[in-house]
Amino acid sequence: TTIYLKDYQVPDFLIDRTALHFEIFDSHTLVHSTLAMRRNPAAKNASAPLVLDGCELELEALSIDDQAVTESGYESAGESLTIHTVPDSFTLRCTTRIYPQNNTSLEGLYKSSTMYCTQCEAEGFRKITYFLDRPDVMSVYTVTVDADSKRCPVLLSNGNLVSTETLEGGRHRAVWEDPHKKPAYLFALVAGDLERVSDTFTTMNGRKVDLHIYVEEKDLDKCDHAMLSLKNAMTWDEEVYGREYDLDIFNIVAVDDFNMGAMENKSLNIFNTSCVLASPGTTTDAGFQRVEGVVAHEYFHNWSGNRVTCRDWFQLSLKEGFTVFRDAEFSADMGSRVVKRVEDVGLLRTAQFAEDAGPMAHPVRPDSYMEISNFYTVTIYEKGAEVVRMIHTLLGPELFRKGSDLYFDRFDGQAVTCEDFVKAMEDASGMDLGQFRLWYSQAGTPQVDARGEYDAEANTYTLTFKQSCPKTPGQPQKEPFHIPIAMGLLGDAGALRLELKGEAPNPDTADNTHTVLHLKQAEQQFVFENVPEKPVPSLLRGFSAPVKLQFDYSRDELLFLMQHDDDGFNRWEAAQQLGVLALKELVAAHQNNEVRALDERLITAGRNLLNDDSLDLAMVALMLTLPTEAYMAEVMQPVDVLSIHAARMQARLELATALKEEFTNTYRTLSRRQGDYQPSAEQIAQRSLKNLCLQYLMLLNDEHSLQVCMEQLDTSDNMTDRIAALVALVNSEHEPQKALALQKFYQDWQHEPLVINQWFQIQATSHLPGTLKRVQELLNHPAFEIRNPNKVRAVIGAFCGQNAVNFHQTDGAGYRFLADRVIELNTLNPQIASRLLGPLSKWRKYLPEQQALMKAELERIAAEPKLSRDVFEVVSKSLAD
Ligand code: ARG
Ligand code: ZN
Repeated sequence: TTIYLKDYQVPDFLIDRTALHFEIFDSHTLVHSTLAMRRNPAAKNASAPLVLDGCELELEALSIDDQAVTESGYESAGESLTIHTVPDSFTLRCTTRIYPQNNTSLEGLYKSSTMYCTQCEAEGFRKITYFLDRPDVMSVYTVTVDADSKRCPVLLSNGNLVSTETLEGGRHRAVWEDPHKKPAYLFALVAGDLERVSDTFTTMNGRKVDLHIYVEEKDLDKCDHAMLSLKNAMTWDEEVYGREYDLDIFNIVAVDDFNMGAMENKSLNIFNTSCVLASPGTTTDAGFQRVEGVVAHEYFHNWSGNRVTCRDWFQLSLKEGFTVFRDAEFSADMGSRVVKRVEDVGLLRTAQFAEDAGPMAHPVRPDSYMEISNFYTVTIYEKGAEVVRMIHTLLGPELFRKGSDLYFDRFDGQAVTCEDFVKAMEDASGMDLGQFRLWYSQAGTPQVDARGEYDAEANTYTLTFKQSCPKTPGQPQKEPFHIPIAMGLLGDAGALRLELKGEAPNPDTADNTHTVLHLKQAEQQFVFENVPEKPVPSLLRGFSAPVKLQFDYSRDELLFLMQHDDDGFNRWEAAQQLGVLALKELVAAHQNNEVRALDERLITAGRNLLNDDSLDLAMVALMLTLPTEAYMAEVMQPVDVLSIHAARMQARLELATALKEEFTNTYRTLSRRQGDYQPSAEQIAQRSLKNLCLQYLMLLNDEHSLQVCMEQLDTSDNMTDRIAALVALVNSEHEPQKALALQKFYQDWQHEPLVINQWFQIQATSHLPGTLKRVQELLNHPAFEIRNPNKVRAVIGAFCGQNAVNFHQTDGAGYRFLADRVIELNTLNPQIASRLLGPLSKWRKYLPEQQALMKAELERIAAEPKLSRDVFEVVSKSLAD
């Protein structure tokens, strides 16, 4: 069944207070709940029955005002329990029996190795007890946890610890109280044998907060970076948003088995170990940055999500889009702003644009869904963040801050909508965001075609934009969007002053060389006056809107922008577009069985980048990286995976050959400059360029490069350099060295599951033939566990999602492999099964032979007898026409 936004109704009942008592035993857990309930005065139907959510529960007792409700008094069907007659105000008690140790879905209360933990967002609470499991029902919680003192010395829940007690039979009890009203999805409980690292933070108004990170004892040495990130995030949210923490305690718990990255439960954040643990010896630079970003993201949810929450799950992006925007800005401030932006835009333009063009395309605020778990998507998160970023661009930082202050103030303690957010921004700024709201309701990636005309007589430059948006499921026609286009004009001697016809000079920029155009019509012109020479336009600076922009630059203009644009993002973007043009040529040649050399200009540009000491190392690394295969697949449809791969390999080899000396010298210089490992922007930039040089050199397949690579592998003091060397080696032709290195790496790191995940992933993403066979062997490796989502992602997810050339091997064996795994996981963990399906669901963009093979596998899954709602939704939407 499909659920529609238009059917939203306020809840018939409210829950003022929730008292939960958990009795955790080895064989089962009993959950006793006491709910103070009353009819919602705002309800439509004043005599509605009480309908509680509940899923896979054994009901042991049920009473209303201490009167047992007998079997004839209620009706239980599917995921709900209905009590037909209830008073206007009453106490509901119920006891349910659950089996956390058998819960492989990792929703509700489950066991991860030896510890008990919860994941309730979006609808996991109903797997714990009968409840009104919807975010607009907010309640104050008291939680009592009883468990064995030895096996579970640590007992945690939300809010403040109010008492502890020793019980009979070697058991103990802890009572927690959360003073803040919250929806059930923010409830959390943890019980286990954990150690902790502690620190404190004093807020801007002098509240002293105890910070604790709970981990298994062996991981105590991997908490420092998360703790530092947490304190940095707390300071940043005070400085940038004026948001202060609101309790005396903030806990983070690391668990091995977790479906997503982390969860923002009030004062008890639960994290996937991969997003909290970090140490130089075991974690790469990317890993450190992920920890920093996710710790901040979950912390920021305390305001954008918890204090102000979502009315219903159609509003998910209200908290996720806004919080991703907040964490992205935080990371930009902590490290390199341009690098962060390039990475985020890379994800958006590959994963999100592909989603927006596929069968699961949905607006940032969806109109309908079958299974909400399927909507924790790059559209809700990343495109949602872009929509908030556009509001920030349109309003400017001061008015945006005024808007966020108003939003938090107006809606504190409430469950609200995306509309409420936009209205607050509008009210605070006075800006009309009427047309802008279409970004929330229309799916699909807008296409913007721009052209420029210089009139040398009149000294005017006219930019003409045309926008359109392809149809998406359920939305055959689109209205034009309000698109902010940040831009400048470049002349021979630098940036030109902008005088937009019919507009006063922009007071925001002193020198008037940068502006934001408001593109609102299907076709619209902007005329710049007093333009002394034919300019090169720099458009969509910083990627100011999530659109596909087309402008017919010549390659020389792109080279010019690469060197002279004031906007770092657009310098990179010019390099990318130059790469796209060159690769397209090579793809076409490959398809026609022609031999064609890489455009010389790329080689010259690469040489200039490597020889210029004045450039930022991170920028050089980014600009020397050719467009990814995933991005090429986005700009060339139908997608010819094998030709794209061949073309990119050829281009990389030509660059490596022509620039061997430069790569060698740069590598040498950068490997000399090592102090102690720090995940600082400066060192990260240095390592990224050094390792890019190593990758290029290893393409040459010569003894010298091999030697350099082996030495880096054997002598590095950090995981970034070790992994980079191993990746280069595994993708090379050096057979015996490769196998030995993989073996040794496993032996060295077998006691570090997160490192072993990297080891899995490196093998699963090798572009060489024979990888599928290796992946199948890895599924039988003793370190692999199908029930652990990180391992599934490292092997199956990586092979199917990050290894196009092998996943799409022409006999369809990759597709068959994925379908088999989806069928296997469908019963164990539907969320993970459904997520893995992504690559198959986009079958329509590939060549006809591949389409047929992919479709056949989707049909095979569709024919399975007991499909979960998660998998059913993706498979049926993928096959619908
Ligand atoms: N709210 C979490 C976050 O983004 C993600 C929770 C996802 N849960 C799920 N069942 N898909 O920080
Ligand atoms: Zn989030």
